[in-house]
Amino acid sequence: MATARDEGWRLHRGTAADAQAVERLSAIAFDPAFREAWSAQQLARGLDDPGAFLLLARDTGGAAIGFALTRAVAGEAELLLCAVAPDWRRRGLATALVDAAMAEARARGAHRLFLEVRESNVGARNLYRRLGFVPVGTRPGYYKSVTGIAAAAITLSLPLD
Ligand SMILES: CC(C)(COP(=O)(O)OP(=O)(O)OC[C@H]1O[C@@H](n2cnc3c(N)ncnc32)[C@H](O)[C@@H]1OP(=O)(O)O)[C@@H](O)C(=O)NCCC(=O)NCCS
Repeated sequence: MATARDEGWRLHRGTAADAQAVERLSAIAFDPAFREAWSAQQLARGLDDPGAFLLLARDTGGAAIGFALTRAVAGEAELLLCAVAPDWRRRGLATALVDAAMAEARARGAHRLFLEVRESNVGARNLYRRLGFVPVGTRPGYYKSVTGIAAAAITLSLPLD
């Protein structure tokens, strides 16, 4: 089921059958230094949770070029992972994915959406700031790079009502 359309791509609901495609996309999208990508097994397990839902952006050939994995439980939602393929960035895909995740979380009864972002991830922090998220907490040293560099996690929050 397509849920939105822009030039050259559309949003779809993803399932556990998309876990391998999301793993491949994650491998090229996330900074490998911080090992933020999930494996197909982790994604499939995450989607076993009845509160979890996956939104996928696909190009006209059907290839996965962006995704957002969200979990909505007991009136709160968490954006667990979101990424866009490098060749497709700065075209509004992440904005569309997070907007769609917000709408779905709201429809599932969530009043607030949370997420955690690495302090040094300037692009993602700009994206979320533009969407209206505000910082509500910091976890110093939460992320550790493969070379031992520590980075704080910033918890961001957005009201959905
Ligand atoms: C962060 C990410 C998801 C953004 O995806 P995107 O599709 O390029 O985002 P959008 O096109 O919707 O960007 C919307 C706005 O966010 C800001 N933004 C996005 N990427 C940015 C960057 N690299 N640098 C500065 N600002 C950025 C800009 O304000 C942008 O608007 P503009 O293009 O009109 O200036 C993408 O860069 C990515 O996949 N990064 C690696 C994975 C990651 O860090 N995920 C988020 C943490 S879970």
